[in-house]
Amino acid sequence: MDNKISLLQDKIKEAHLGGGAARIESQHSKGKLTARERIHFLLDEGSFEEIGMLVTHRSTDFGMETEKYPGDGVVTGYGNINGRLVYVFSQDFTVFGGSLSETHAEKICKIMDLALQNGAPLIGLNDSGGARIQEGVVSLGGYADIFYRNVQASGVIPQLSAIMGPCAGGAVYSPAITDFILMVEHTSYMFVTGPSVVKTVTHEEVSSEELGGAFTHATKSGVTHFACANELEAINHVKRLLSFMPQNCEERPAALAYDSSQDENRPLLDQVIPENANQPYDVRTVIEQLGDEDSFLEVHKDYAENIVVGFARLAGRSIGIVANQPAYLAGVLDINASTKAARFVRFCDCFNIPLLVLEDVPGFLPGTDQEWQGIITNGAKLLYAFSEATVPRITVILRKAYGGAYDVMNSKHIGADMNYAWPSAEIAVMGAKGAAEIIFKKEISTAANPAEKLLEKEQLYAGIFANPYRAAERGFVDEVIRPSETRVKLIKAFRMLENKVVNNPRKKHGNIPL
Ligand code: HXC
Repeated sequence: MDNKISLLQDKIKEAHLGGGAARIESQHSKGKLTARERIHFLLDEGSFEEIGMLVTHRSTDFGMETEKYPGDGVVTGYGNINGRLVYVFSQDFTVFGGSLSETHAEKICKIMDLALQNGAPLIGLNDSGGARIQEGVVSLGGYADIFYRNVQASGVIPQLSAIMGPCAGGAVYSPAITDFILMVEHTSYMFVTGPSVVKTVTHEEVSSEELGGAFTHATKSGVTHFACANELEAINHVKRLLSFMPQNCEERPAALAYDSSQDENRPLLDQVIPENANQPYDVRTVIEQLGDEDSFLEVHKDYAENIVVGFARLAGRSIGIVANQPAYLAGVLDINASTKAARFVRFCDCFNIPLLVLEDVPGFLPGTDQEWQGIITNGAKLLYAFSEATVPRITVILRKAYGGAYDVMNSKHIGADMNYAWPSAEIAVMGAKGAAEIIFKKEISTAANPAEKLLEKEQLYAGIFANPYRAAERGFVDEVIRPSETRVKLIKAFRMLENKVVNNPRKKHGNIPL
């Protein structure tokens, strides 16, 4: 028996070495951790249970039968994060560049199946040269097997992808289907075709970093939700993100212990809205005052900055926040802001995370650029996402709620449960000046002093609509509240809505305007 046990120990040792000491050294020299080190930092100490450590590839082309590494370039298994079960795969770049073989794909699929069957989050730590070139179409099939499972699991269990190395070709589509992507600055990149193909096809000269690095995807494309300074930061972000989520769509996020002395009024909020309605302010100040201390985790921070989305806690409970950002493009809704917020709303709705909307929006962004790129279809995504969401939904109108954006931003008409307005709210079809110019056009143009007339009519319109009271008279706003009492109101209202049950009409699935 001793011999047999020592054989097992030798095999485990070999598997732990991955592609060998020299390749591990090379991985470290690039500032990257190994697949196993990443798992070590991600999971609670001693909780990792590996599955398929001794799996090897079956390829015999190009002399591959002589080069086999136990585990075949991916470490898979399950463990705990803060005591909660998660499933993990971590690609090992030291083995054939972490490339995906038939068996590598089978290992990932096995834990995906377990994650789905047992209702726990799936975390992918990606570091791969893509399809195992020596295996050809078998590898492509393996990718498709993973994509299919990503889709089946979508909305059932949270799926998170950390990109910690190359991720190219069709391989990018697995992370793209998952709920959140985190990229590490300078050592990770994602693109469908790399710089050399780009140069051949479009004659553009571009580096990997510029084409598909973390900064690019965090700011230009919005492909990644987080750009992290290093791998440990990415791993810590994964843990923090998970803390806001339940294990699966049948559960609610766990509530944290909460000190109710934080319930008090927030006098700072009475001062936050500037006297001049056209002056910007940072909506994050409002978010910080409303949420539990230091609880806000912003998602997509550097993309479509005219809308702020993220998770926070209110009296210990997870909420998703969607807030127009007057400090950037006056908080206007454009294509990118609409799709960013729509995706976030749908995530929250999938996983029973109540939604809080903070509204200060002058409308949709006008112009040929937006119209020709489809602001109609893209703005409709946000409208659709809010309308189909069945989680508790509360809106606070801080200042402007103009035009179609009033309807879209979680208005009562599309199913919000409670709508509050601050006394500074202006709820109208458009701003007073624009409105006066249209409805009093003749009167203004024929006036002895058109500018004076315009001002008079502008003031008339503003007097009627630049306030929350018309909407409150109709019940479109449930209550006009002092800003400082908003947090307390929200805590009570979300508690009141805790057992909300709404069933949308039975259907196969809706047809969101993609
Ligand atoms: C097999 C691979 C590999 C691959 C890398 N390796 N990519 N082996 N299949 N796809 C191996 C290398 O031979 C090398 O082996 C080791 O991994 C490390 O690679 P290096 O090139 O030395 O590392 P580095 O300089 O860091 O470059 C990393 C890289 C480069 C940028 C990823 O290796 C590369 O461009 N690889 C090919 C990428 C690619 O074209 N993949 C296919 C994409 S298409 P040794 O033995 O020397 O350590 C695709 C389609 C998916 O993936 C479609 C899904 C639908």
